[in-house]
Amino acid sequence: MDGYTIEHHTYDVVVVGAGGAGLRATFGMADKGLSTACVTKVFPTRSHTVAAQGGISASLSNMGEDKWQWHMYDTVKGSDWLGDQDAIEYMCREAIPAVLELEHQGVPFSRTDEGKIYQRPFGGMTTNYGEGVAVRTCAAADRTGHAILHTLYQQSLKRNAKFFIEHFATDLIMDDDGVCRGVMAWDLTTGVLRIFHAQTVILATGGYGRTWFSATSAHTCTGDGNGMVIRAGLPLQDMEFTQFHPTGIYGAGCLITEGARGEGGYLTNAKNERFMERYAPSAKDLASRDVVSRAMTCEINDGRGVGSDGDHIHLHLEHLGEKLIQERLPGIAGSARIFAGVDITREPIPVLPTVHYNMGGIPTNIHGEVVTRNGDSSDTVVPGLMAIGECACVSVHGANRLGSNSLLDIIVFGRSAANRCAEILKAGATQPEINQSQIDPLLGRFDQIRHAKGGHPTAGIRDRMQRTMQKHAAVFRTEETMQSGIHKLDAIYASFEDVAVSDSSMVWNSDLMETLELDNMLQCAQTSLHCAVDRKESRGAHAREDYPDRDDKNWMKHSLCWVEKGGATRFDSRPVHEYTLTDEVDYIPPKERVY
Ligand code: FUM
Repeated sequence: MDGYTIEHHTYDVVVVGAGGAGLRATFGMADKGLSTACVTKVFPTRSHTVAAQGGISASLSNMGEDKWQWHMYDTVKGSDWLGDQDAIEYMCREAIPAVLELEHQGVPFSRTDEGKIYQRPFGGMTTNYGEGVAVRTCAAADRTGHAILHTLYQQSLKRNAKFFIEHFATDLIMDDDGVCRGVMAWDLTTGVLRIFHAQTVILATGGYGRTWFSATSAHTCTGDGNGMVIRAGLPLQDMEFTQFHPTGIYGAGCLITEGARGEGGYLTNAKNERFMERYAPSAKDLASRDVVSRAMTCEINDGRGVGSDGDHIHLHLEHLGEKLIQERLPGIAGSARIFAGVDITREPIPVLPTVHYNMGGIPTNIHGEVVTRNGDSSDTVVPGLMAIGECACVSVHGANRLGSNSLLDIIVFGRSAANRCAEILKAGATQPEINQSQIDPLLGRFDQIRHAKGGHPTAGIRDRMQRTMQKHAAVFRTEETMQSGIHKLDAIYASFEDVAVSDSSMVWNSDLMETLELDNMLQCAQTSLHCAVDRKESRGAHAREDYPDRDDKNWMKHSLCWVEKGGATRFDSRPVHEYTLTDEVDYIPPKERVY
């Protein structure tokens, strides 16, 4: 093995990822006096949270009556009853203080005439348990994620959290007892390998949207935390549930916020029909995302798509007027102009359901602690390891996430993880030695990939994986389409053994970094498609034409999936939490999900 420059660092907590979840946890722990490092592969304010547009949900009642219990009901229904109700109660309750804290920390929210935080309607958000439309999503125009991310970074710097920027975390350091002792990271700018010793490692690495060909996700969303967890021999949960956002710009995939429909925008087909009236007579264009994406796909498949190829749908905002657009939706006016050549005050935007969010991920409890399943079917916490945000599965989104519950998830559970660390860790406590034998296999893997000189360049394997996922893990699925996808994906997975990395430099080597990212995405692709074929029902975003109904008797359970050497998958399950956190609210029993 080449000589490597290796440096050791010790912190109470190391957070991997500097999106909203990572930064909320980072500054929360620094605030409590824990020495905290944040390791991030991009500059913090370039993390993908920056792209979140429409807002963050919280029943503040600034623009109409609202209650966290209504928010909880909507989230349970949105999840198609796969969400854990204790966790959902926690999130919807904590939404109110968590968003008010953001306001006090300096997030520049848009304002009502009275100076309160501005809120807008979003899909699936209702009042009085489905009766009316809730105005619940707190917004900073259509740049809410940008506003939140910058504020959290400032708050972290103010509390002297230490940032390791442009560092790629490669693997978790696990001891022989299954305790996480730290993480290894490659400093992209100097080539140094850093061994971080920590009482707790918090994964906040975001989603894996780039496993598909067309996604609203940044190119950095490559499931890095999920890959590390799989390599540590731990499972991922509910990986079959992938959200398609109804309004990605046709061709480019960029997000047009659901807030556009919240402000009064609507969809039409080639016959100029507002077709959502047929699919969701009550909520119409503001039905839950899985419902709208399926309706759009049906319209296109039935020959009513727009454009010369009849392969997309129109989103109309022309009627909203220039003033509202400038004030509330300035960002998407720019995106539509740049990526679709459309002036949204005059013409509709061509849109298509586009991969947007991964409901599944690393299983955790409401404190962010990673849990795994034992042979005797009991849950255990993995000591020293937490996960928060899109890489985690708490599970508050179940089979389908409601729009604006994602910014909420990252803030509530980033905060919760910080509180937990402050409760269970002692600042400056002595940490056990990390043995060289725990590091050697991680170095060995890194070195092997760095010097890989096989016959398959990274870009080719990635392209085949992305196209396979796009075609075979799509809005609608059948046994036949998914099995044929698995057949292709197994070969693609195996081809990584023969990957070629063009350059072995340790400094600014983008080919090596993309290869390490590809390894992570392959674990996500493998678990997603295998879990999808395994689940023989339709629920939320997992829509099987051959099993069109939800099957609560057999499938009211979370899937767990491990990847063994060579790519073989192994399954187990965890029960859905059919109980609430407190007695203040009753369990919401499953029923038919109509909008
Ligand atoms: O449509 C949007 O603004 C996206 C929000 C979300 O995914 O929560």
